[in-house]
Amino acid sequence: MAARETGGMAVRCAGRIGVAASVAVNLALLVMYIRRRYFGGSRSGEENTVEPSKGKPPVTPDSVVNLDHGDPTMYKKFWKGIGHRATIVIPGWQTMSYFSDLSGFCWFVEPGFEREVRRLHRLVGNAVVEGYHLLVGTGSTQLFQAALYALSPAEDGKPMSVVSPAPYYSSYPSVTNYLNSGLYRWDGDANTFDGDTCIELVCSPNNPDGSIRKTTVKAKYGKTIHDFAYYWPQHTPITEAASHDIMLFTVSKCTGHAGTRLGWALVKDTEVAQKMIKFLELNTIGVSKDSQLRAAKILKAVCDGYELSPASEANRLFHFAQRKMAERWSRLRATVAASGIFSLPNELSGYCTFAKEIVAANPPFAWLRCHKDGVEDLEGFLRENKIMTRGGPKFGVDERVVRVSMLDTDEAFDVFINRVASLK
Ligand SMILES: Cc1ncc(COP(=O)(O)O)c(C=O)c1O
Repeated sequence: MAARETGGMAVRCAGRIGVAASVAVNLALLVMYIRRRYFGGSRSGEENTVEPSKGKPPVTPDSVVNLDHGDPTMYKKFWKGIGHRATIVIPGWQTMSYFSDLSGFCWFVEPGFEREVRRLHRLVGNAVVEGYHLLVGTGSTQLFQAALYALSPAEDGKPMSVVSPAPYYSSYPSVTNYLNSGLYRWDGDANTFDGDTCIELVCSPNNPDGSIRKTTVKAKYGKTIHDFAYYWPQHTPITEAASHDIMLFTVSKCTGHAGTRLGWALVKDTEVAQKMIKFLELNTIGVSKDSQLRAAKILKAVCDGYELSPASEANRLFHFAQRKMAERWSRLRATVAASGIFSLPNELSGYCTFAKEIVAANPPFAWLRCHKDGVEDLEGFLRENKIMTRGGPKFGVDERVVRVSMLDTDEAFDVFINRVASLK
């Protein structure tokens, strides 16, 4: 009797397991079907990925270490940890139209991108977004040119003078002048400009020396473009929600996604914003929607990391990045102090409204000066020692100072520190 009952239970149990297994298999097949049908996935999933390029070659203890460019690869570990929370899949049939949102102020801005940018600024508190138009560009480099176009020419029809205090970001002169435009022209160091009309580029924190900047020119008809590529908590205390006429930002330096080539501008004046849109239409007929969707997902992951996830550094980009930058700066400062031949600008610090404590600034570049007798051309001296940097003349100053990227991989930074330590 007992044996018959046990046998019956076993059969019933096996039956239930069989039904559950069959439901599970059918569900899995249905999910696969839906993924293939609506998201373009293949049986193996291979069609969802393409082989990406690898960026710069890896550094070895003997190779040249290239810290000329500010290639922000140091956040890779963080994004690997974030995993699928920052992944997007774009089926072949999506984002095909030129247009994003015909009812919006700017027809090629993806609404999801705009929403996440505004959310991010509210979270960090580094810029006012209410009352501002948001424009998107292929990097902030394109928006910089759109802004020059919108603010030029001068009232008398002559080319607008474009200035910035030395040391200024080395791309400003070349990007301003490369088309030899009749609308504007590079006019050099803002400290020595004494005309009536100009556009001043205010980069803060400043590339290359990390200084905090305000407008310097007292021109009668002065206009400003604020380049806030580095006004993020990993680089500087956030001291105010900035509210200037034109403010430029970029994912390149905020999250490290330079390859996405996406920047944004917050623009107060409607007419100026419309002229900037005109430039972007003429220049590239809008901006990649694919990049905007990716950037939206990245920025969403940053905001979610603070607003919706457990408070750990693995979820909090700015905390991760700030700690890494601080570690690098402390190693570099110790190495430079021990060298006896180099010096760096003094460390700045202040109360950060985002971190809610006093924090030190960690600029994206080291502005390294050499005091060794006989070294007049520091870029050349470091190149002989297999360290590529960018020399002072490109920033409008002397040759005994160079800009060194602090944003590269851990391996490159380690090799750099060891080489500087060996120079006496
Ligand atoms: C001060 C500054 N502004 C703008 C840019 C360009 O950024 P994007 O990659 O968005 O064109 C850089 C890049 O190094 C920069 O240092």
